[in-house]
Amino acid sequence: MDVSVSMTVNGVEHSHAVEPRTLLVHYLRDTLGLTGTNIGCDTSQCGACTVHIDGDAAKSCTVLAVQADGCAVTTIEGIGNGSLHPMQQAFWDEHGLQCGYCTPGMIMASIDLLNRNADPSRAEIRHGLEGNICRCTGYQNIVNAVASAAKEMAGADA
Ligand code: FES
Ligand code: FES
Repeated sequence: MDVSVSMTVNGVEHSHAVEPRTLLVHYLRDTLGLTGTNIGCDTSQCGACTVHIDGDAAKSCTVLAVQADGCAVTTIEGIGNGSLHPMQQAFWDEHGLQCGYCTPGMIMASIDLLNRNADPSRAEIRHGLEGNICRCTGYQNIVNAVASAAKEMAGADA
């Protein structure tokens, strides 16, 4: 029997009837058509599905849609306000991606990282992103991108 879920996604209210077993990532991709959130594994390891739930990063393959009932969810589509978010710009500038499959999750996790620690060391960046796997870049340019975004965002706050 379907159950009703309501949540705000990228500032827009949504209500749907879903199967109780529906994962949040499937709700976002299949019901709302927000396919920027990727699925890269079936073991909760890769982080490609990372979104923000009430401001905190979460792997949306580990959350049932019904568990996000009443929450505010942000996906990669919701961070830019019509232009690139500073974190997206930093990934672009620092070549922090190759195939791009991990990138939406990396960016959502990186924004959360800076929300919790605005001036992380490179070791703290690596530790903060250890739940996100990249098969292409070797991580160096991802760390460069997050460090660059931290500087840029600190300047914007000043
Ligand atoms: S799809 Fe890999 S952690 Fe969610
Ligand atoms: S850029 Fe290809 S998996 Fe990260």
